[in-house]
Amino acid sequence: MLTSPLLIDSHGRVMRDLRVSVTDRCNFRCVYCLPETEEAAHFYRTKFDAIRNPSPKKIPLPALHPRSHILTFEEIERIVRVGVSLGIQKIRLTGGEPLLRKDIEGLIARIATINGVEDLALTTNGFLFLRKAPALRDAGLKRISFSLDSLDRDNFKRMTGRDGLDEVLAGIREAQRIGLGPVKVNAVVIRDLNDGEIVSLARRAVDDGFSIRFIEFMPLDSSRAWQKEAVVTGREILDRLSTAFELERVQSANASETARRWRIKGTSAEVGIIAPVTEPFCGHCNRLRLTADGKIRTCLFSLVEHDLKGMLRSDCTDHLVARRLREIVSGKEERHHIGEEDFAQPERTMSCIGG
Ligand code: GTP
Ligand code: 5AD
Ligand code: SF4
Repeated sequence: MLTSPLLIDSHGRVMRDLRVSVTDRCNFRCVYCLPETEEAAHFYRTKFDAIRNPSPKKIPLPALHPRSHILTFEEIERIVRVGVSLGIQKIRLTGGEPLLRKDIEGLIARIATINGVEDLALTTNGFLFLRKAPALRDAGLKRISFSLDSLDRDNFKRMTGRDGLDEVLAGIREAQRIGLGPVKVNAVVIRDLNDGEIVSLARRAVDDGFSIRFIEFMPLDSSRAWQKEAVVTGREILDRLSTAFELERVQSANASETARRWRIKGTSAEVGIIAPVTEPFCGHCNRLRLTADGKIRTCLFSLVEHDLKGMLRSDCTDHLVARRLREIVSGKEERHHIGEEDFAQPERTMSCIGG
């Protein structure tokens, strides 16, 4: 019998964080997520030699969902309301690229007014941010995380498939200017691609006053080209940072945080390391994910998804949706199995799950 009003799994973890993917479309083609060409997908094997080919072979995009398969704002709002009644406190909007969803500010406004939503954030590649910024803030967005893997224009293009460095940097500045802070910047680190930029990215964070987090590359790329050799471990990232900066560990008040954090001495800047591959943090995971087409994923690496859209589109009460959510959560995976013999990459990739 399900008695607790909270979302508790069979390992005693209480869910507080719902990450909502609002679209599986993206305007970038990051090599670690949704690479555009065969050459980019197999970047590690070829060390990008082939990417210089003047006519690289394009990979067809995974089938996108027709609009009717995507949850409406009313449906998302309803799931968030039910989630909040079960103890969810933090909502993060993700994609694909969430700023591609038409009237995303309308969704933000709906969620911002729900009693019990303590934190409302969004993860973006930043390309479209500048033109959307005031509307997002006015709608009630509290925080934003940008992806930025390189400060070198050519390397940025190599990693994201797009020539967008200036737009992203301008977006970060604008987010700081209008008070959508503290602004966080996420960099996925890949050996021989951008590991030479760890220190310069951190220096930029000091100069510009944002927090930067370096993330280990996870096997969630659409081409399944992930190799452990391409992972720069959290340990290595820390070693490189320590050669350039004096670091003071920052203790987190929140055990479910993904990043270990340090303050760069003499500055107010923070660097974080997110090391899900070599230092998994599953034991304190409090995250649930909702896909754009209305499926709940209890883990980034879930092999099964649980449909809510069908329930919402039938005559189902909130009470039944809540009961279904609690059932789903009770089966949450204990941990991921990256690097183990039994590891299986989920069918859906980061571009549909949203980080
Ligand atoms: P806040 O730290 O709350 O501001 O959120 P954020 O989305 O900026 O950062 P978070 O630490 O939640 O996510 C940053 C990155 O960490 C994601 O893009 C993923 O790469 C990774 N990550 C987040 N959640 C998980 C998780 O549950 N499992 C694993 N393995 N990786 C995760
Ligand atoms: N490994 C680690 N992080 C990833 N992201 C996307 N793909 C991967 C991957 N394969 C992160 C990006 C972005 C967020 C949406 O997800 O850094 O910040
Ligand atoms: Fe949570 Fe799964 Fe990530 Fe582990 S791998 S932290 S269980 S989402």
